[in-house]
Parts: sequence; structure tokens; C-alpha cells
Amino acid sequence: MPNIQKNISLKHLNTFHVEAYAQYFVSVRTNEELSSVLKDSTLKKLPKFILGGGSNVLFTKDFKGLIIKISNQGIKLVKETHEHVWLLAAAGENWTTFVHDCIQHQYAGVENLFLIPGSLGAAIVQNAGAYGMETADTVQCVETINRYTGDIKRFLAEECQFSYRSSRFKTKKNPFIITHAVFKLSKKPCFRLDYEPLRQSIPKSDLTLQKIADTIVSIRQSKLPDYRKYPNAGSFFKNPVISVDQFAQLAQSYQHIPHWSYNSGVKIAAAWLIEQCGFKGKRFGNVGVYHKHALVLVNYGHANGKEIKALADHIVQKVIEKFNILLVSEVMIL
Ligand code: EPU
Repeated sequence: MPNIQKNISLKHLNTFHVEAYAQYFVSVRTNEELSSVLKDSTLKKLPKFILGGGSNVLFTKDFKGLIIKISNQGIKLVKETHEHVWLLAAAGENWTTFVHDCIQHQYAGVENLFLIPGSLGAAIVQNAGAYGMETADTVQCVETINRYTGDIKRFLAEECQFSYRSSRFKTKKNPFIITHAVFKLSKKPCFRLDYEPLRQSIPKSDLTLQKIADTIVSIRQSKLPDYRKYPNAGSFFKNPVISVDQFAQLAQSYQHIPHWSYNSGVKIAAAWLIEQCGFKGKRFGNVGVYHKHALVLVNYGHANGKEIKALADHIVQKVIEKFNILLVSEVMIL
């Protein structure tokens, strides 16, 4: 049984760096350790929260229950053909370390997702995405342990209910804790250049996985703050999807709204909506909206989670008043 710690500060376990305490905390490195925690009769009764890299969570209060940090490690080649490799990776791996490894080995399929903070398991839970790519694009199957029964269950990608920044593992009642995943990557160079600024930055003659990763680094650094300097959780809100009719109405007053067609509706840039409401670069005491990207809320001082939540609520209110669009947070608020 791994060491169960009591009254542990979560400040350095979340990228907003807000202070909150976990009543109980445990870091698990193997399936066996996780199973023993889940089967323990005294721990069974406690509310539980699964923590990855803490880069998409906002603690607004102490957590009364058990926080389980998934800390297993390992990346293993499990199958190889002429064109593809299948890598089995542990959920506790750092996502960017995994992407870096793939680039070093010339395995294509995750390079646009370089530098997304957080753990590999968390990237799958929320189907992390950036620059025209999503985690779900390369996931073949996901291995889980049921938090109530301890049973191991595998899900094929099509059973994971992946959607924009979500999956079955992000739903409230989900009982499955991700322990591992298998990714299918391409040994042949194939690049995803749908994202305009990425396509423009790299000459076609100069395309390599490393070049893409380098370009992603400079695009990200030009827009997004480093959480070690300006604690944040990346995009705080999802880009909302509205109906074609609502969009047509809105476009009459605002001709330049950044938008994309999405399923049967229209996806709008949340950053643009927030900027139009005058929040970009504004500070409110310890918290604020990053001056280079309006979708990123920043802890500029020693803010607590409630202050960040209050700013998020204020933004939601103003965007509703001005555009009649409801912003939904991408960040998990606890
Ligand atoms: N924009 C503004 N104001 C701003 C920032 C952006 O008007 O302050 C406009 C841009 O001009 C652009 C549009 O909004 O037309 C979209 O901006 P961007 O390309 O930066 O992407 P995003 O939709 O804001 C999404 C993801 C990011 C991901 C980028 C790049 C969501 C919620 N966010 O942001 O993901 O890095 O695309 O692919 O989907 C994250 O999830 O934490 C994250 C950073």
C-alpha cells in the first residue's frame, strides 16, 4: 500500500499555483498500488479526485477526500509494421516528454501537441488539442481501472466518446481511471498543417517533425504564458458552438468574428468574445486576463481559486450580456 499523506498542500500540484489542501493524498506508481488504494475499506468511503499534471484544474477550496495522483511511468513499443508503430504509454508520463520521444524517433502524429502541459492521462481525458491536432487522433485504445470495483477494462478509441475537449472519462459519473494508452503513430512523414499560422511559418521544402515542434514552441511562446512565470491553465473556456441562425444574426453586427463551421453549428473564438468585452490585458487585483491571449486567466500574485473563479464568472456574465453566448469552462473547477 503506498503512503497515504494527510493534509497536503496542492499549491505546486496545480499550474494556477493556488493554495488548497487535500485531506488525504496518495501518489500511485503501478496498477497494483492503485488497486490497493481503491480496495482499502477506510479509503473506499472518501470522495476521490484523480490528479494528473494539474494543468486543467482550479481548486477553489480544500478537497475533503482523497486525491490520487497517477504517477506511473513508461513508454514501450508494442507493435511495428513498415508504416506504423504502436506505443503503450503510462498515464503518469508527462505529455510533452512523450511527444518529444515520438519526435526523436521520427514517429508522426502528436508533434503539433508539443508543449501542452500536463500528464498523458489528462491529455486523453480532455482530448487535448492544438494547432489542428487532437490527442484522440492517434489513440488506439485506453486501459482503465474501475474506481469502485478495481476491474481492469480496455476501451477502443471509438468507445471513448472523444469530442472537442472531452471524452467519456471527463463526465461526472465516469468510474474509469486511465492507467495506460496505446497510440498508433506513423513512421512515414505526414504533417498536419491545417492551422494557418503553422502552415505559413514553415516552407514546404523544410518540413520535418522537429521543424514543426520548433515552430509550435515559438507560436505558443508568442501567445501563451509559461505557467512557471505566470501561473495559468491554458484556455480557461471552450470555444462555444452556436446555431447557424444565431451566427447569421451576430455576423450582421460583427463581420469579423473568427469562426469555423462545426458539426451542424458554428464554433466561435471565445478569446475574441472576451476581448470584445474589454478584458484582454486587464488586471483585477491578483488575477487577470493575459495581455497576449484573452482566453488565458492568470494568477499574477498570490491569488486563491475563488478570486480566479470570480473573474471567470464576471467574464461569463459580460459575454452573455453582450453576445447572448454562454461560455463553458474547459478547466475543471473544484
Ligand atoms: N483571438 C482574439 N483575441 C485573443 C486571442 C485570439 O480575438 O486574445 C482570435 C484569434 O485572432 C483567432 C482566434 O481567436 O482568430 C483563435 O485564436 P487561437 O488560434 O489562439 O486559438 P483558440 O481558439 O483561442 C485554441 C485552443 C488552444 C490551442 C489553440 C491553437 C481551445 C479552447 N483552445 O485556442 O488550446 O492552443 O486553439 O490550436 O480550443 C488549451 O486548450 O489550453 C489551449 C491553449
